[in-house]
Amino acid sequence: RPQWRGVVNEYRDLLDVGAEVPAVTLGEGGTPLIHAEGLSERVGAEVHVKYEGMNPTASFKDRGMTMAITKAASRGAKAVICASTGNTSASAAAYATKAGLTSAVLVPAGKIAMGKMSQAVAHGAQLLEVDGNFDDCLTLCRKLSEAYPVDLVNSVNPDRIEGQKTAAFEIVDALGHAPDIHVLPVGNAGNITAYWKGFSEYVRKGLAQSAPMMWGFQAVGAAPLVLGHPVDEPETIATAIRIGNPASWEQAIAARDESGGRIESVTDEEILSAHRLLSSTEGIFVEPGSAASVAGLLKSAEAGLVPSGAVISVTVTGHGLKDPQWALQAADGSAVTPTRVPIDAVSAARELGLEDA
Ligand code: F0G
Repeated sequence: RPQWRGVVNEYRDLLDVGAEVPAVTLGEGGTPLIHAEGLSERVGAEVHVKYEGMNPTASFKDRGMTMAITKAASRGAKAVICASTGNTSASAAAYATKAGLTSAVLVPAGKIAMGKMSQAVAHGAQLLEVDGNFDDCLTLCRKLSEAYPVDLVNSVNPDRIEGQKTAAFEIVDALGHAPDIHVLPVGNAGNITAYWKGFSEYVRKGLAQSAPMMWGFQAVGAAPLVLGHPVDEPETIATAIRIGNPASWEQAIAARDESGGRIESVTDEEILSAHRLLSSTEGIFVEPGSAASVAGLLKSAEAGLVPSGAVISVTVTGHGLKDPQWALQAADGSAVTPTRVPIDAVSAARELGLEDA
């Protein structure tokens, strides 16, 4: 079988990119859509998990970044800049390097997961830590890109949304039809905007008969779209979505309303519990921000809001290895420590609770 060619080449005729423009790709997209039996049973529906941690830099950002860097490189750009809670910086750094561009990233000091920070550094980004939150970083980046010859590759860049919409295409392609409900975490609100664009375009092109209801979930301490006003000091352990003033605010509200969907919030405890459930019952390891979608689905089911037998796709946005510390704490918050044994099969068997044959 031919190798998957990345989202620009796989979906070029559905994207805003010329036929001759060479794609800057690391083979992103084509991620697994996993039927989650345990989760399905728990919520009384047919649940499929779109595992975006399987992208080259281990988050969904690569779909948008391949497009943004492809277009920036084709315009002759030399440098790109972005604000990030971590994943965008990792992705921008990798794709910029692949294209021979330089990258600069601004991140909130002390509030990005180590896996993400190490990716940005490894790929040679110029990394600035800002004494402020993500929203402050984005404001700074906008100013810099207006005043200096550097391209902004945050999701306010329409090329990012254009690339990210391909995840919606893949879900419909894999299921053979659109789901009834699509669930995802919401931070800066680029991704909910992108998925809604993708699902809507498939309907308009006759490639899907319907579009799903969009259900987005924010963390309680960073839930401006739920509250209806910006949050000055967003707080959540899910640092990926620690955002108080989403750039794609109106588009997110439009996606919610046009689809007949909802944007609600989940607590950090609900996020961590969904994170644990996914890894321990489905075999899917995600970062906490990604688990907000699953937490929201579980909460909705408890509230009786999940129609019985509905087909539901749930995006988990980033890999668990990005921010692995959360797996090493038990439900009660205590540290998980392995039991130490001598080099002796009998002792190991006793510790493992193995029966005599
Ligand atoms: N999940 C993860 C793992 C993320 O990294 C992000 C956003 C989101 C969900 C929310 O997506 O912003 O499109 O609503 N991360 C950005 C970053 C802000 O800088 O990496 P969104």
